[in-house]
Amino acid sequence: MLMMHINQKMSLILLLSFLYFRQVIFAQVLPLDPNEAAVVRQIATTLGATLKNPTDDPCQSKNLFVTQTYAIGTEFKVIENNITCNYNDGTFSHVTHIKLKTMSLQGKLPPELVNLPFLQEIYLVRNYLSGGLPKEWATMRHLNKLSITATGISGEIPKEWGNFPNLTHLSLEANQLSGTIPKELGNLVSLTDLILSSNQFVGSLPKTLANLTNLTDFRISDNSFNGTVPEFMGRWTKLQRLEMYSSGLEGPINPTIFALGNLIDLRITDMIGPQFDFPKLNYKNMKSLVLRNLNMSGSIPKDIWDMGVRKTLDLTFNKLEGEINSITTNTDFIFLSGNMLNGTIPDSIIGSKKNNLVMKGCWVDILCVSDNAPHKISIGNLYGRQNGTTNQPRES
Ligand SMILES: *[C@@H]1O[C@H](CO)[C@@H](O)[C@H](O)[C@H]1NC(C)=O
Ligand SMILES: *[C@@H]1O[C@H](CO)[C@@H](O)[C@H](O)[C@H]1NC(C)=O
Ligand SMILES: *[C@@H]1O[C@H](CO)[C@@H](O)[C@H](O)[C@H]1NC(C)=O
Ligand SMILES: *[C@@H]1O[C@H](CO)[C@@H](O)[C@H](O)[C@H]1NC(C)=O
Ligand SMILES: *[C@@H]1O[C@H](CO)[C@@H](O)[C@H](O)[C@H]1NC(C)=O
Ligand SMILES: *[C@@H]1O[C@H](CO)[C@@H](O)[C@H](O)[C@H]1NC(C)=O
Ligand SMILES: *[C@@H]1O[C@H](CO)[C@@H](O)[C@H](O)[C@H]1NC(C)=O
Ligand SMILES: *[C@@H]1O[C@H](CO)[C@@H](O)[C@H](O)[C@H]1NC(C)=O
Repeated sequence: MLMMHINQKMSLILLLSFLYFRQVIFAQVLPLDPNEAAVVRQIATTLGATLKNPTDDPCQSKNLFVTQTYAIGTEFKVIENNITCNYNDGTFSHVTHIKLKTMSLQGKLPPELVNLPFLQEIYLVRNYLSGGLPKEWATMRHLNKLSITATGISGEIPKEWGNFPNLTHLSLEANQLSGTIPKELGNLVSLTDLILSSNQFVGSLPKTLANLTNLTDFRISDNSFNGTVPEFMGRWTKLQRLEMYSSGLEGPINPTIFALGNLIDLRITDMIGPQFDFPKLNYKNMKSLVLRNLNMSGSIPKDIWDMGVRKTLDLTFNKLEGEINSITTNTDFIFLSGNMLNGTIPDSIIGSKKNNLVMKGCWVDILCVSDNAPHKISIGNLYGRQNGTTNQPRES
């Protein structure tokens, strides 16, 4: 009893001293460099924000004090208005991170950002901006993460963007960007993430991208690229996630790409090209495998069930055939319709709750199984009924 009392007292003292310590640290945040403070005000104006109180120090307040920040819809409620000043020179703080998400900003991307020389990260997500990507940004020495996602910007990627000295993450997803990918992007050898999905890019992927061997995440879905899937992707040995839903590129897909040893998430859909047999894959880490509408033939190898794709397996709208008798419960979601498969679904699967959900989801032709359904189900012959571009589920 006494011991407990002492412990509680101790905890209270610890808590209080922790709070006090935090206060002290907070109080020690140095004021923002006056030059940068002027730049931040300029940036706010260019972005279309109105500062509530222009003399507020964003390093102290940790945000851009703007009037009227409201969410675009109930779906995207999360507003992020976050300025971080993680670097100081003993006299002043310097802005290192800017994150502005779902703030309904209606201006342009500010070229003035280059006057924040210690900036490491720009994250502008879900705003209503216009105009294009400022070519000046590429001079920012410390910038390593750049995400401009769903903001409405248009135009081409400036060729100057091949000059970023230290960029590791470039995401331009879901904008109205167009034109070809400049060959200069192949200079960004530190890139680990390159995300260009959902734009209007055209042309083929430049050969220089072969040098991006640090890539772990490459996504080019929903674009109008042309030409074949470049063989050099098979040399991106660190690649973990490759996403090409309706990219516009054509087959054949080099077998070395399928065989990449670190793939966790491989999604390729809606691609024309010569017919090919089910490829050899490395299932060691595979979480999601989506190979939909690719003119793939032959039978599904048994090791796909043995080794297990953990979450999603979607092989719909190909020309796969043969009997499937070895489906296991290792995979959460299995989609096989639009092929010429047949076979028997084991009782163990029909009895398994998580897989029942899938069957009831109507995306498989082992679909819509009710609790009293027969345990022997045909895996249909739906090939040709749909061409795979209909509203299939897409999870991220
Ligand atoms: C603001 O951004 C910094 C740096 O990215 C991060 O450490 C911090 O958690 C963020 N704060 C909020 C409230 O999002
Ligand atoms: C380059 O980025 C890395 C992190 O990706 C960082 O550790 C390093 O300090 C950066 N270099 C410069 C010059 O900013
Ligand atoms: C991978 O990135 C590091 C820096 O992050 C860089 O030093 C190295 O040259 C890159 N590797 C290649 C093959 O470009
Ligand atoms: C690919 O697209 C580019 C740019 O739109 C075009 O110039 C080229 O002719 C196209 N190539 C093929 C093979 O269609
Ligand atoms: C890759 O980089 C090397 C050296 O940096 C260069 O010589 C080579 O031309 C580049 N490859 C391609 C395909 O651009
Ligand atoms: C599928 O492959 C065959 C044979 O290689 C080819 O003739 C056909 O055009 C291909 N179909 C598609 C949609 O790519
Ligand atoms: C399944 O289809 C294959 C041809 O794809 C056929 O040889 C086999 O007899 C069929 N099995 C059943 C049970 O219908
Ligand atoms: C197949 O897709 C094309 C567009 O990609 C569409 O015009 C056509 O209606 C589709 N056909 C069927 C049967 O869904």
